[in-house]
This record gives sequence, C-alpha cells and structure tokens, in this order.
Amino acid sequence: MRLARALSGALIVVTLVSCSPSGASDQPVAGSGSAGASGIGDDDFPTDGNGGYDVGHYTLALGYDPATRQLSGTATIDATATENLSSFNLDLHGFTVSAVTVGGRPAAYTRSGDEMTVTAELSKGAPFRTAVTYQGEPQPVRNSPNLGTYGFVPTSDGSFVASEPNGAKTWFPGNDHPADKATYEFRLTVPDGVTAIANGELAGQPASAGGKTTFVWRETNPMVSYLATMTTGKFLVKTGDTEGGIPVYAAVDPRYQSQLDRVFEVSARITDYWVTVFGPYPFKSTGGIVDDYASGYALENQTKPIYGGFEPDEGIISHELAHQWFGDSVSISRWKDLWLNEGFATYAEWLWTEHRGQATAQQTFDRHYANATDPMWNYPPGVAQKADLFNNSVYARGAMTLHALRATVGDDAFFKIIRQWASDHRHGNATTEQFTTLAEKVSGQKLGELFGQWLFDKGRPNPITKR
Ligand code: ARG
Ligand code: ZN
Repeated sequence: MRLARALSGALIVVTLVSCSPSGASDQPVAGSGSAGASGIGDDDFPTDGNGGYDVGHYTLALGYDPATRQLSGTATIDATATENLSSFNLDLHGFTVSAVTVGGRPAAYTRSGDEMTVTAELSKGAPFRTAVTYQGEPQPVRNSPNLGTYGFVPTSDGSFVASEPNGAKTWFPGNDHPADKATYEFRLTVPDGVTAIANGELAGQPASAGGKTTFVWRETNPMVSYLATMTTGKFLVKTGDTEGGIPVYAAVDPRYQSQLDRVFEVSARITDYWVTVFGPYPFKSTGGIVDDYASGYALENQTKPIYGGFEPDEGIISHELAHQWFGDSVSISRWKDLWLNEGFATYAEWLWTEHRGQATAQQTFDRHYANATDPMWNYPPGVAQKADLFNNSVYARGAMTLHALRATVGDDAFFKIIRQWASDHRHGNATTEQFTTLAEKVSGQKLGELFGQWLFDKGRPNPITKR
C-alpha cells in the first residue's frame, strides 16, 4: 500500500502490486472474492462502468482554478459489493492520484488506461466507502467522431461539463455507465467571483474564505454519471419558481446576458407544461445554463440542461426538459436503447410545436415520412450503433416510432402509456423490451409488427393506416 502511494503519479502505471489486475486471469485467494469486472456489462462499451458493486452516493469535494486549469480534491464513493470481491475497478481518465482509501484505510491500487483497480476484500452485500484524492488538468474527450468534445472541458473563464456518453471519468472516478445511478453531493471551490454550478439544489449560501468560494450542491435523486456537471465561470443567475411551484435556477455567461430572463421564463413554462403531459416532475428543481463554449450540442444535465454557445430556442429547451423524465429519471441500462431517450425527447419537441398551435405532430411525422431517401431508413433506431450512437435516426425515427404508436392505439392509450412509463421506472433504469411490453399491456393490442418495422427493420416502414 505504501509503495503504491509513494509512487503515485506518472510512475503508477508500472506499480503492479500484489493484487491481480482485473479480468479473466484472476485467481481468487482461498476464502476470498475475485476481481470485479472492468466493465458493467454493456456489449457495445465493454470497459465502461465496472462490475461487482453498486454506487449509492458520490461526494465530490473538488477545487478548480480556471487560470491554471488544475482540478483537485477528493471523491468519496459509497457503494455496496454485489459479489465477494478481492478488488474492484473505477473509471478515471488522466490525473495524478495521490491517495486511495477503502473503509478509511490506505488501499493499494494500479492504473491502466482509464481503469483503476483497487485492492480490497469485500463481502457480497457489504457497504464500503472509497476515497480517491487526485489532481491535474482535466483532459476531455476531444473531437470524438460523431460525439465532438465532451466531459470536463476547460473554457476561457471556467469549465463546460457535459459528459454523455462516458465523460464523467474525465473529472471524477466512479462507475461511469448509466446502469449505476447514485445520489451526489458537490462541494465545489473556485476563486471568488467565479460561480460553480452543479446538479440539484444549493445547500445554503456559498461560503468565501481566503479568496475562494465553496458552493455546495446536492442532487438527492438518483442520477446517471453522464448527467453530473461542474460548470464554472462568470455567470449571471436568476432564481425563482415556476407557476406550478417548481424552483428554477437559470444561469448564462455574461455574453448571453440578454437571454437570462427568456431562458428562465421558457424553461419554467415548459417544465410546467410537461408535468401536464408526462406526469409529476421527477426532481426538486429545474433550470438551464447557457455557457460561452461552442460545444455544438446541448445536454440534459439533471435539473439543469446545458446549452453550449448558442441561444436556445423553445424547440431545444422543450427537448432537454423532456429528457428530465426520459433519460434522466427513466434511464437506459445499455446504450443500444438510446432511442428511449432521444426518440422521446424529439417527440416531445413535436408535441410542443403542436401545443403552440404550429405544426401538428402528424404533420411533422408526415414531413419526415415523405423523404423516401432519408438515410434514417437504413438505420433501425431500436439498436443504436456504437460507432454512431446519436445518429439522426435515433432522434427522428425514434420519434416517428412513438407517433406511429399513438396513431395505432389512439391518444388516450398513448398518453397513458407514456405517463405509466415515467411512473413505473421513475428514478430507475429500463429497456426497450419493457417499453414495448407496457405498450401492449396498456393498449391491449399486439404491437410486435409495428415495433419491428419502426425500431428493428431496415427500410421505410409501411404508412400509418389508422389515425
Ligand atoms: N443528449 C444530447 C441531446 O440530445 C446529445 C448529447 C450528445 N453527446 C455528445 N458528446 N455530442 O441533446
Ligand atoms: Zn436529446
């Protein structure tokens, strides 16, 4: 243990201490457990997440200095072993680790790529606390094909943090896969004058000492790792409540000062509207952040979607806020089911347009359907492809699937299915099979043919007949 600690830093990759690395070569010691898997079991992303334990809570006590780009602090991870373990893995990209403890005692660890293996004898069912102290300049995943730059991205005045699909490991160690949801506390320390924004709600007033301010945020509902944020920088902030009584936190980079009132107001109004369509709001607050970093996308960070370097219109705000129900509260457990997030959020945009008296959802559907050569006809959205996860098909054809369902079962059954889906899996995880099963149960119809054509078959499905 001392050895690993003393040699922390660049040398750590060669300090293979007595514990075995994760994987098939593990040889359990008599009477003890075996190495937890280096992946959580997602066929498409075999090393994302980890096996053998379930995280309940993260406490991220982190400082960030925009001038030096140094992130440092301690991540405390409360988890439960789901099997007898001799070691377990955490996902972490970069940084220098200076200490790891399990149950308060120094623990040996090794690092290889983005996998950190911690030696610990743990019995199935045992709760255990791991603390990792680390520092360094965060290295986001840059210019990834089809994904752009994501994770913890240093900006001119702070950080833009949007981690879908697997960029949480670029700023804290953990189980970086949506199948393992947990609650979070963020204790974020930044230079005075900088605002640090995370998920959930502020616990009291930020406290200043020695030129630094600490913001404590708590997300008390389960959250997937990619939705965690630590967005820092100069921000103008507006808080209040929606008409329906949900607390709102809106923040914009000074460059978007003219947008603050609108982002606040539109986010509040749309959150209230989705409550009438999807059912009770799953979290304790809503809002949005407009940062001055041109990410080229927005992300539905839990309670606070982030918009990267543009003025968000009602369409995208309606999309990211619909994700609070679909993606954030009801989460996927494997990436190939991504249409359950993006198809639903895109269909919500169509519903918003309909609600505003513009195009009906049927008209939007018809417009997409009319394009016989759209590439989405060759990409069945029910199985998102690893190399092109966020293909337009997952969005548009995913939304069309929901509209085809609505047209087939009728509005009453359709909105009952959607609300039941949000309530059955509130704060949990779910799969496509569970959705199609629910749709058949609520509607009393056999829908295998419909879902087969829309979600799983190549080619443009038959036109909708009933409406
Ligand atoms: N879920 C986001 C949205 O629908 C897209 C995130 C894409 N991720 C990325 N790294 N480009 O708005
Ligand atoms: Zn989306």
